[in-house]
Amino acid sequence: MAVLDQLTSQEAMDLENKYGAHNYHPLPVVLSRGEGVYVWDVEGKKYYDFLSAYSAVNQGHCHPKIVEAMVNQAQTLTLTSRAFYNDMLGKFEKFATETFNYDKLLPMNTGAEAVETALKLCRKWAYEVKGIDENEAEIIVCENNFHGRTTTIISFSNDPVARKNFGPYTKGFIKIEYDNLQALEEALAGNKNVAGFLVEPIQGEAGVYVPTEGYLTKAKALCEKYNVLFIADEVQTGIARTGKMLAIDHENIKADILILGKALSGGAYPVSAVLANDSIMHVIKPGNHGSTFGGNPVAAAVGMAALQVIKDEKLAENAQVLGELFRAELNKYIANSSIVNAVRGKGLLNAILINDAEDSETAWNICLALRDNGLLAKPTHGNIIRFAPPLVMTKEQLLDCVAIIVKTLKQFEA
Ligand SMILES: Cc1ncc(COP(=O)(O)O)c(C=O)c1O
Repeated sequence: MAVLDQLTSQEAMDLENKYGAHNYHPLPVVLSRGEGVYVWDVEGKKYYDFLSAYSAVNQGHCHPKIVEAMVNQAQTLTLTSRAFYNDMLGKFEKFATETFNYDKLLPMNTGAEAVETALKLCRKWAYEVKGIDENEAEIIVCENNFHGRTTTIISFSNDPVARKNFGPYTKGFIKIEYDNLQALEEALAGNKNVAGFLVEPIQGEAGVYVPTEGYLTKAKALCEKYNVLFIADEVQTGIARTGKMLAIDHENIKADILILGKALSGGAYPVSAVLANDSIMHVIKPGNHGSTFGGNPVAAAVGMAALQVIKDEKLAENAQVLGELFRAELNKYIANSSIVNAVRGKGLLNAILINDAEDSETAWNICLALRDNGLLAKPTHGNIIRFAPPLVMTKEQLLDCVAIIVKTLKQFEA
């Protein structure tokens, strides 16, 4: 088979199954093109994308301004490594730090790398600024967190599938219940070794758990009280997804360390970053940390274009309005539904809870039926289906999607 032969869906899936490691369980659909809120499979069938590559494609598939920035830069200079300066990184750093109101940015590529960077930064700050004894620093994390896949990050996961047989695990993490301020205060009080609190403003992978209003504000205040860094993992919730530029903007708080990824590139290229003020970032010195690709000129050009699109097209505002409409419309259906218990979320990061056992196949089967009806979504954990379309969606398209979702769910009513 020649490399450029057009494959059928079956052929493409067979190839992946035979030659690829089985570390994912994809929905059986093979995509070959995307534009805005739509994707097409290799047979030419069109779908609404209701996952957006786990909230990376907030600006819509193949956004022309992001693609233009990427292609122009790719034809000019792609990679220098940080052994030399390049003429794009500084511009990106200025643009992003001004956008998010921080002194400094440390560029990486993937979300997990940015989380690792934040953890290292927090530990170094703990030893060199807070004065914790060497190797004693601890970072508080939440149960059911998802921060990525590295050995250290899965060390503090409580998902057995992500964790089992990857030990020995990295020490130095304290796990507490999410959305529980008392647990946070108990973990902070009387423990002088706590350096940071790492938290997702909404737990996306766990099933779009939105904490109680005020939780993040009070958690931030507790961190201040105990001189502990508040580290917001906005890899999934950031860049307009929840109806504000950052999910923590809903509570008007500022993280000491901000972690961004995914939509920082609009899905065009791996771009992630850690932002902090000088009082924290100054602990990082040459040689302490780095990445061959982090901060490369293509990433910088793409990152700037991706943020500019969010601002120009008012995508946070659109996510806010459409998110409210989405939940209101679904709630009308849920009021008399036997198959869906609830819809929850913020902006265009939402999930529905299927009325069936957690280990049932129902959510998966609903996603297969949604696919047949022209909309792509995926279960998160067990019986929860996440709905996260690109933020460039129009009201008409959203209502069309609601009609597809409701029609599909009705097929599963008892
Ligand atoms: C909150 C959060 N943090 C970190 C990550 C890891 O990002 P990546 O897959 O780019 O390493 C994810 C990915 O889903 C995420 O949702």
